[in-house]
Amino acid sequence: MKDIFLKACKGIRADYTPVWFMRQAGRYMPEYQKIRQKYDFLTMCRTPEIAAEVTLQPVRILEVDAAILFSDILIPLEAMGIEIEFLEEKGPKVSPTIRKSSDLIFLREIELEKVNYVFNAIEILVKELPVPLIGFAASPFTLATYIIEGGSTKEFVNTKRFMFSEADSFHRLMSLFTEATLKYLAEQIKAGVHVVQIFDTWAGILSPLDYEIFVRPYVKKLIEGIKNVPVIYFCSNTSGLANHLKEINADVLSIDWRIDIKEAVELFNAHPLQGNLDPLTLLGTEEEIFKRANKILVDGNLARSHIFNLGHGVNINTSVDKLKKLVDFVHEFKIREA
Ligand code: CP3
Repeated sequence: MKDIFLKACKGIRADYTPVWFMRQAGRYMPEYQKIRQKYDFLTMCRTPEIAAEVTLQPVRILEVDAAILFSDILIPLEAMGIEIEFLEEKGPKVSPTIRKSSDLIFLREIELEKVNYVFNAIEILVKELPVPLIGFAASPFTLATYIIEGGSTKEFVNTKRFMFSEADSFHRLMSLFTEATLKYLAEQIKAGVHVVQIFDTWAGILSPLDYEIFVRPYVKKLIEGIKNVPVIYFCSNTSGLANHLKEINADVLSIDWRIDIKEAVELFNAHPLQGNLDPLTLLGTEEEIFKRANKILVDGNLARSHIFNLGHGVNINTSVDKLKKLVDFVHEFKIREA
């Protein structure tokens, strides 16, 4: 197995920068669409052979240095007594919602056998993949926003109302999700994933103080409880949280494009970094894409190790051809001696 990505996760550089993309499997890819026309998204997630095939598509087509399991951050809710749906236009729908302390009774202890299909997909993949496999879960906070809001949101009104009016119960919800996620990830690791990424997509909606109170302790506990594999922590809009991010002990910090990677190298004392091209750069010309990618590669080289990625998931309007050219561009950039 090609291990350049795994080395970078451990802070070891090789002679080129490894690259993969969040949401590298998905609707922008005709090969994905072909399967998606026959099955809905949840059926794809719940069928190990399909999930494995879709995980492999970007590895074959783009020749990226890592695969990420095809699944979703909301899947473990199915094993906790919560119903999830994905509506064509509106995105995820979660029910029942948990918005006050008395709603906590809806959340059951995680029953891993209900999501055995996740671990079965991993078992298939580790036999077939030429590159390392990334397992993942949401952070307790990001998962909580979905169960509180019932789906996607812009304002997070219900989340913040719960947080600021029943803080003890909110902490209880964070604790329950931390314990469940630790079990879920331990099972993914047992099944064979080589690296784990924690998605904290929405942490950046909080003030630094509230991140410190409601998020940091649980992320820290989660990351410290993950054994035997490197952990990547992804969050976005978090420049104001830098001091807190230093303390969470992730092997790699995945940053978005709102922060200059050179500045991130300084802020995090050259800690291994992943990122951080704006995904929508890919809608522009190759010249603009390569110019920005080059700067990220040059500055990323100042960190102990750097994994090239986008600052968030691949957009549905992205051209596969441009993404493939970006992979080649990253691979051809030679890391100079620091
Ligand atoms: O990265 C990968 O290729 C692996 C698979 C993966 C998916 N979702 C597949 C997916 C991963 C790692 C995720 C994580 C995820 N899911 C996050 C965190 C990362 C981020 O993007 O911020 C979040 C917030 C979700 C929740 C989610 N899932 C939403 C809001 C949506 C609807 C929006 C959309 O793009 O449709 C999904 C659906 C989803 N998850 C799709 C895919 C490929 C689209 C499903 C389809 O084919 O219709």
